[in-house]
Amino acid sequence: MGRRQELEQRQSLLARFGRMVAAETSLDTLLGIIAEEVRNILSADRCSVFLVDFYKGELWTKIALGMEEKVLRIPIGQGIAGFVARTGSAVNIRDAYKDTRFAQDLDRITGYQTRTVLAVPLRGRDGKALGVFEVLNKAKGSFTEEDEGLLRILATMAATFIENATLYDDLRRSHLETIYRMALVAEYRDQEDTGRHLRRMSRFSGILAQGMGLSFLEAEDIRYAAPLHDIGKVAIPDSILRKPAKLTPEEFEEMKKHTVYGAKMLANAESRLLRLASKIAVGHHEFWDGTGYPYALKGEAISLEARIVTVADVFDALSSKRVYKGEWTVEDAVKYISERAGKQFDPKVVAVLVEKLPEILEARDEENRRMVEDEAASLQQHFPVSQASAPPPTSKPS
Ligand code: C2E
Ligand code: SIN
Ligand code: SIN
Ligand code: FE
Ligand code: FE
Repeated sequence: MGRRQELEQRQSLLARFGRMVAAETSLDTLLGIIAEEVRNILSADRCSVFLVDFYKGELWTKIALGMEEKVLRIPIGQGIAGFVARTGSAVNIRDAYKDTRFAQDLDRITGYQTRTVLAVPLRGRDGKALGVFEVLNKAKGSFTEEDEGLLRILATMAATFIENATLYDDLRRSHLETIYRMALVAEYRDQEDTGRHLRRMSRFSGILAQGMGLSFLEAEDIRYAAPLHDIGKVAIPDSILRKPAKLTPEEFEEMKKHTVYGAKMLANAESRLLRLASKIAVGHHEFWDGTGYPYALKGEAISLEARIVTVADVFDALSSKRVYKGEWTVEDAVKYISERAGKQFDPKVVAVLVEKLPEILEARDEENRRMVEDEAASLQQHFPVSQASAPPPTSKPS
């Protein structure tokens, strides 16, 4: 590759990262792409991003391109990556086997032959090493100073992403937990499996949102806010909510108010997620053709978030059991929703439901499995099977 061409390639790489950041790509995707590009541009055989596990005093491979082992763990201070993490200085090694810092045992175990190594630290805002960015075995010769420069720039970018994502995640997680607990309170009265419904409809909402072309983070916000759609049901009397039969018109009028109650409870919140949840609460029973409630809004006057969540909610409500109805098959639920595209539902969202059905069913299975496991774990926690009272082993019939 000519030098000019190489420079151009590097410049366009940086521009592409800029765009990915603007598009709010997820951290894993971003790091994966950076590593892939680095590997190509530096003609390296392997590329890995190690992160520091401060708790265990280890480095682990968040990204490991070109390796068979999925996750590699090495103590801080050991090997080249461990050295870089401990000292915070970059290393460029021409012959790994001649370098005493190199941990040969890894190669011995895996049968790989490391020759050249370039490793730079991923430094956080306070200068502390968050991890190590490492490339191995350049196709020809050894890594140059320019290679090192590029790796340093990309390491700086990667470190910023990692730090922001981590801060952001903690905040989101605590929001999520609060929101999720509020949502459980609202719905536990009218469904035996509220937790499942909320988890499933929340996952479906996220999938539909991405299918509607929203960014990853916008879709995540919708996923987190969606479980609050029915929070207003806390204000609906049990005589209505738990009625194991069809509601009278008067009862249904009362029931309809759960949308505005929910919106009021969540309105003007400081949290962006709660404000989003308020929009969803008020809009999730509006119909595309303007015949829904509470305000009979039509088409795009209904928020996109609500149009997405309503499809997720009804799909899951139909395909699950309720106090007042049995569960429908997936086919019947999809058919029902498809027939109402353009009437009850935004036709674009319905098209995404149909297109993404395999992914949605996968998420559904996953959440159903997960709840069974969670319940088993919590049972085990509350009623541990002690060694003494455990039944004697039965001999298996052969
Ligand atoms: P939900 O049980 O969470 O149901 C949400 C939405 O899913 C319903 O909104 C409706 O659009 C759809 N859906 C659920 N089950 C069925 C069904 O068997 N057939 C049809 N065609 N659609 C279904 P909707 O109708 O506005 O109801 C809002 C909420 O009012 C329901 O939330 C539920 O809590 C309550 N509700 C509605 N109908 C009855 C009923 O006959 N008996 C009782 N006890 N509650 C009802
Ligand atoms: C929770 O733990 O209550 C909500 C967070 C989650 O498990 O997704
Ligand atoms: C849930 O855990 O179901 C709530 C939101 C989510 O993580 O999908
Ligand atoms: Fe509702
Ligand atoms: Fe619901």
